[in-house]
Amino acid sequence: MTLDTPMSTDAASTSQNIRDMRRSYGEAGLHESALHSDPIEQFSRWLAEAALNPYIVEANAMVLSTIEGDLAGNVRPASRTVLLKDIDGENLTFFTNYHSTKGRQIQVNPHVALLFPWYAMERQVAIKGVATPVSREITDEYFASRPWGSQIGAWASSQSEELASREVLEAAYQEFAAKYPEGSRVPTPPHWGGYAVRPTSIEFWQGRYSRLHDRLIFIRNPHDEASWEIGRLYP
Ligand SMILES: Cc1cc2nc3c(=O)[nH]c(=O)nc-3n(C[C@H](O)[C@H](O)[C@H](O)COP(=O)(O)O)c2cc1C
Repeated sequence: MTLDTPMSTDAASTSQNIRDMRRSYGEAGLHESALHSDPIEQFSRWLAEAALNPYIVEANAMVLSTIEGDLAGNVRPASRTVLLKDIDGENLTFFTNYHSTKGRQIQVNPHVALLFPWYAMERQVAIKGVATPVSREITDEYFASRPWGSQIGAWASSQSEELASREVLEAAYQEFAAKYPEGSRVPTPPHWGGYAVRPTSIEFWQGRYSRLHDRLIFIRNPHDEASWEIGRLYP
C-alpha cells in the first residue's frame, strides 16, 4: 500500500484514500504445467506455503458464504470467517454451532462458497461446494482436542441469537464451567459440530503485472465425479 498523505480516519478521507491504495502485483505466475493434477493437493500446497508466510495470520481462516432464502423465493447471501480444521480426502471441514445463522442456512441450502484471501502472497483460492454435517465421531474427536475454555464457550454460546448483555454470556460461561470443571471431560454440545465441504469447483488466483492475473479453475466433471476439468479464466 502506498499513500502520499497520512491516512485520515473520517469516512470521506478514508474513501479517498482507499481509491489511491494500489499495489502492483509480482512476478510469480501460475502456469498449468506447475499445477498439481489434483486440486486438493494443489490447495494443500498453497495452504502450507501460506502457513509458513510470516505476513499471513491464520492462513486457515476462510470466508464462508451461505445462502438465505425466504418463502417468497428471495435469496440473499451472507458471509463470515471460519477456520478450516481438516482436509479429509477431498472434503474441507470447519466446526460451528448447527443452530447458528450459518447452520440454519446450510440446513435449507447446502451450497456454500469458501474464500481464502492470502493477500500477502498475492493469492486467493475461491471454492464452491456442498456442505454436509460430519459424523458424530469426527466432531467428538475434534471437540475433545479443543482447549477447555473453548469447550465451555461452545456450551455457553447460543451462537447468532440475540444476547441481552455481556453479563448474561459470562454468567452462562460460569455456569458451564462449574458443571464441567477444568480437567474433567467436557461432552460435545449436541448443537455443535463440523461441516465437510465437498468442492465442485476450485479456483487458484495469482496476482500478476498490469492486472493480468492468472486464474486457473478446476471444475468437477459432471459425468465423472472423480475427475476434474481445468480451465483458465480472463482476469
Ligand atoms: C478469524 C476468525 C475465525 C473464526 N472461526 C470460526 C469458526 O471456526 N467457527 C465459527 O462458528 N465461527 C468462527 N468465527 C466467528 C464467525 O465469523 C461468526 O461470527 C460466527 O460463526 C457467527 O456466524 P453466523 O451468525 O453467520 O452463523 C470466526 C471469526 C473470525 C474473525
